[in-house]
Parts: sequence; C-alpha cells; structure tokens
Amino acid sequence: MSLHFDGVALDYGARPVLRDVTLHAAPGEVVAVVGRSGCGKSTLLSLAAGLLNPTRGAVTRPAGRVGFVFQDARLLPWLTLRENLRLVAPTLSGAQADDWLARVGLRGRGTDRPGQLSLGMAQRAAVARALAVQPELLLLDEPAGALDELTAADLRAELADLLRARPVTTLLVTHHPLEAALLADQVVVLGGRPATVQGTLRVPGARPRDPDDPAVAGTMRDLRALIARADRAAPGGGEAA
Ligand SMILES: Nc1ncnc2c1ncn2[C@@H]1O[C@H](COP(=O)(O)OP(=O)(O)OP(=O)(O)O)[C@@H](O)[C@H]1O
Ligand SMILES: [Mg+2]
Repeated sequence: MSLHFDGVALDYGARPVLRDVTLHAAPGEVVAVVGRSGCGKSTLLSLAAGLLNPTRGAVTRPAGRVGFVFQDARLLPWLTLRENLRLVAPTLSGAQADDWLARVGLRGRGTDRPGQLSLGMAQRAAVARALAVQPELLLLDEPAGALDELTAADLRAELADLLRARPVTTLLVTHHPLEAALLADQVVVLGGRPATVQGTLRVPGARPRDPDDPAVAGTMRDLRALIARADRAAPGGGEAA
C-alpha cells in the first residue's frame, strides 16, 4: 500500500508546473509536502488521487479508498454534516458519523448544514469525512490552514492518534513546520518554476511526538534551514516570487 511518484512531470496546457518529481511513501508513512504558494502542492495531491494524469512519468498509488481533504472543504451544502459523511461512507450509522465529527471537535453538530459552520469548522468536518471512509491513501491539503493555533493543536493531536491506531499512507501539504515535525516521517520540499524536489528531510523519532520534545524543535530548525536553502537554490518558485 505504498505511493510512488517516479519522474513525474505535469503541465497545465502550455504551463509547466511540476518536473521530475520522484517521491516514495512506504505503507503507513506520512510524507509532508512544503513549498511556496503556487508551486504545485495541490496539483501533486490531485496526481496522487488520480484526478490528474501525469504529463510524463508514473504515479503508483495504493489500491482502495482515498480520503481527500481539499484545500477548500468542498462539503455538499444541501446535506447535513452527518449526511455528508454518510454519502462517502454509506455503512456508517448516524451515531458513528457523529462520533467522527466529535473527534474533530464538532460534537453535536451532525445535523448542521455546511452554511451554518465557520471556515475552520467546515475544514474539520472535511477531515472527519476523509477519515470516516477508512482510506488506504489519505491526502490532506493544509487541513489546519483556517484554524487558530489551539484548535490546530487539537486537530494535530487527533490526527496523530488516529494515524497511530490505523496507519495510513498519507501526503500532508502544510505551511507549518510544527505540523510537519509532529506528524510526518519524511518532508519533501518543492521549489523552482517548474517545481522540482529541492530536498527531503527524514524526521527522527517515532510518532506520536510531543510538541515540547526538544527533538521536535530540532526538526523544525532543520526544516527551516532546508526550506531557506531550497529557496536560495531555486529562487522564483511559486506565484509569490
Ligand atoms: N486547473 C488548473 N488549470 C491551469 N493551471 C492551474 C490549475 N490548477 C492550478 N494551476 C496552476 O498550477 C500552479 C500550481 O498550483 P497549485 O494549486 O498546485 O499550487 P499550490 O502549491 O497548491 O499553492 P497554494 O499553496 O497557494 O495552495 C499555479 O501556477 C496555478 O496557477
Ligand atoms: Mg494548494
């Protein structure tokens, strides 16, 4: 149940976005993906999900269900949260759907519709939906992007617990070094235009990790240094440059 990108290139029409991307996630491994806005991280997740085909190279993904938390939550607005979960995981009872929602801090909100939620709540409901399908491949596009630090910490702790209880091969797009240091086994830095893999960091220590562990602070320092080095080596990546 591993995920492989081998020499993957992706062009949108005439626009080259990704070049020569090779990465491997072993079964149950969590690979964090970082890089400037617009460099192609969401595109990478779409390739992993099979929503896009590579222009060149090959993507080999685990057989089975995919849990995808899109950057925008993409809940169906006319269904309740409970119904949103049961649509993708029809064997769930209403109570089980509510239980998944409770795990992301949405206890008692099963009968709300997405329009009644804040952005961060919708994002957490999308995380519950992705986990409720018991996926073989989990794709998380900035799952804590709209959250305050305290709520983000709760979500990370919950994700760490769930991934320990049932390991899933995971790609996690994040702009947050702490998130990568806590949840990932490996961090891949994308940069340049078109984007290539600028560097990879192995995160030491078994998961779950304590945010106050000095080893986590060390990983964050190493990651910041790697990102800065990558940015100097391949300036002008993404849309911000
Ligand atoms: N459907 C599309 N058609 C054409 N170009 C696209 C499409 N989707 C994305 N792009 C372009 O591909 C590049 C990478 O976009 P992508 O959304 O993958 O970036 P990202 O790294 O996820 O950025 P962010 O951190 O802002 O979410 C950008 O230049 C974007 O304009
Ligand atoms: Mg994106």
